Amino acid sequence: MKFTALFSLLSVAATVTAQNIALSFPTANATVTAGQNTTVQVSFPNSLTSVQHVSLVISLASCGQANECPSSAYETLGTPMYVGGFDPQYHESALPPYQNFSVQIPEGTAEGTNLLTVAHFMLLGASFVPILDFSNATVYATSA
Ligand SMILES: *[C@@H]1O[C@H](CO)[C@@H](O)[C@H](O)[C@H]1NC(C)=O
Ligand SMILES: *[C@@H]1O[C@H](CO)[C@@H](O)[C@H](O)[C@H]1NC(C)=O
Ligand SMILES: *[C@@H]1O[C@H](CO)[C@@H](O)[C@H](O)[C@H]1NC(C)=O
Ligand SMILES: *[C@@H]1O[C@H](CO)[C@@H](O)[C@H](O)[C@H]1NC(C)=O
Repeated sequence: MKFTALFSLLSVAATVTAQNIALSFPTANATVTAGQNTTVQVSFPNSLTSVQHVSLVISLASCGQANECPSSAYETLGTPMYVGGFDPQYHESALPPYQNFSVQIPEGTAEGTNLLTVAHFMLLGASFVPILDFSNATVYATSA
């Protein structure tokens, strides 16, 4: 009895943790150019649980001369490039649902390593569990 309850709790937890956003583009070490637009692809795996996507932020933080990126998204997201809704859809059958965003890399972005972060807020399941999740990639910024 106890084991069954524990097992079902664990599988709920596993299902929940499997449902996170993923930054698919740009990939690690991609080059971006200050002042120019770049495509950011945010994926969300198909899920059995109902999900209500509330909002998404795409932002860029400089890692500075010392090449030290922010250690936590809770510390800073850097400069927001997109703040708004998220509506992932199926496009290619081999890929999970995703949405592409064209965002402008801020003018005056420091040349060098920057951390591109997506922050996502959703309500999960019939009891509307609030979940904030993040995904990031380090990118290399050049000036135009
Ligand atoms: C990105 O660059 C870092 C430092 O040069 C390297 O350690 C890492 O393996 C690279 N990652 C990818 C996916 O190329
Ligand atoms: C970036 O993502 C990595 C891998 O998921 C994680 O370990 C790291 O804490 C994240 N960095 C920030 C600033 O959120
Ligand atoms: C999303 O962007 C990627 C990378 O630029 C591109 O290959 C893909 O075709 C785009 N998908 C849609 C639906 O526009
Ligand atoms: C460039 O990005 C900005 C947001 O950062 C967006 O408003 C604009 O439509 C994009 N331009 C193009 C040509 O996609």
